[in-house]
Amino acid sequence: MRSGSKNLVVLGMQWGDEGKGKIIDLLSKNFSYVVRFQGGNNAGHTIVVNGESLALHQVPSGTLHPKCFLVVSNGVVLNLEVFNQELDRLRQRGIDVLSRLMLSEKAHVILPHHILLDQWREGGAGRIGTTGRGIGPAYEMKSSRMGVRLGDFLHPETLRARMELGYREVSLRLGPASTLPTLDQILEMAQSWVAPLKECIGNTQELLRQAWDQELPILFEGAQASLLDIDHGTYPYVTSSNCSVGGLLAGTGLPHQVIGMVCGVTKAYATRVGDGPFPSELHGLLGETIRSRGKEYGTTTGRPRRCGWFDIPIVRHGVQINGTGGLAIMKLDVLDGLEEVKVVIGYSDGSGGLTRSLPGHEIDWKEIRPVEKIFKGWGQTAGCTQWSDLPKEAQNYLKFIEDNMDCPIAYVSTGADRREGFLMSGVLSPFMEPA
Ligand code: IMP
Repeated sequence: MRSGSKNLVVLGMQWGDEGKGKIIDLLSKNFSYVVRFQGGNNAGHTIVVNGESLALHQVPSGTLHPKCFLVVSNGVVLNLEVFNQELDRLRQRGIDVLSRLMLSEKAHVILPHHILLDQWREGGAGRIGTTGRGIGPAYEMKSSRMGVRLGDFLHPETLRARMELGYREVSLRLGPASTLPTLDQILEMAQSWVAPLKECIGNTQELLRQAWDQELPILFEGAQASLLDIDHGTYPYVTSSNCSVGGLLAGTGLPHQVIGMVCGVTKAYATRVGDGPFPSELHGLLGETIRSRGKEYGTTTGRPRRCGWFDIPIVRHGVQINGTGGLAIMKLDVLDGLEEVKVVIGYSDGSGGLTRSLPGHEIDWKEIRPVEKIFKGWGQTAGCTQWSDLPKEAQNYLKFIEDNMDCPIAYVSTGADRREGFLMSGVLSPFMEPA
């Protein structure tokens, strides 16, 4: 079997929002295909078109590179209304991607009743701080074999009956007082959303298989991150898909040989939105300083992100479950000018020992006590474009992280602009050649 050495997977190593978009933006011009394989419009990345920022949630990255074919594969749950809005906003800026887009016939569709159910749950005891976009219920319908897939819209004779299964269950749960539209209204809305996309629905597994046969380079774009993975994250405070590398295989139908390398993306500190364990969280002024310097507000919901120190066990977990071959460390400049910078090196086991294993249960997370190592702060890294330009203290900080990861640092970002940052150790070089 061919090797996948030209194909790169970009995954988050923390709780999302690590800056995967910048890495993908830097690299996507070198790829013939960019693939979204899990998640839905809970994700978000911002692109800049003619100096204007545009937030995208479901359209894969690579929109700005006309030679890049965009794929939404079977593991994604799609909000078609939002998807059309994103396409419209791109069109208004002169970018039409319809001729270079394929949506899997097997991708599940997020329907209005899924969104209402998600929001209804968030108002009760089961609240975990979701984005309220209906992601959990859409995946739940998929698992309980009541989901509606894009391909169902190509079979109008059975569509209503398919949709009714899930709709009936949600109506029962929400009760008669809910504002749920009728099934026929939802059916009509959903059909109108699918209409402009019909030509793009197809067999993405076959498309990607052929691309791989022709050795055309493929970039797999992860959404969310390892600690939000439904199996390997901080359950139950997680999203409903496998955001780690396993999600790629199930979410595309491609074999593991397709993977050339996993590039893991992490911030130089940590953030999380929504509820759930966050051992290195900073509650005081320092947390606020990092939030405002790093502009740490959700792309999808605008919620302030919780901020904390870099946590080695957390990122190591991401590196281990994904077989990460190179780390991209983002937003180093946000820590510029701090007197001291801390790193969580492990968790105290209560009897003098230190563990880097993550607890498996919600209650155990509450028990752990993070142990920190203090580093002297540094002046300025903002805008640095090579390792030797970094202050010695920042170099020490990064070296310590690398030494504790069993994985080389492949890229360091020192600002939002694509020119601010630099590649290291040649790990990403094979993926830097134009397609
Ligand atoms: P859901 O994915 O909307 O069900 O939300 C489940 C958890 O994942 C919540 O804590 C969300 O804040 C979090 N989450 C979902 N998508 C993202 C993302 O793209 N970035 C960061 N957190 C996310």
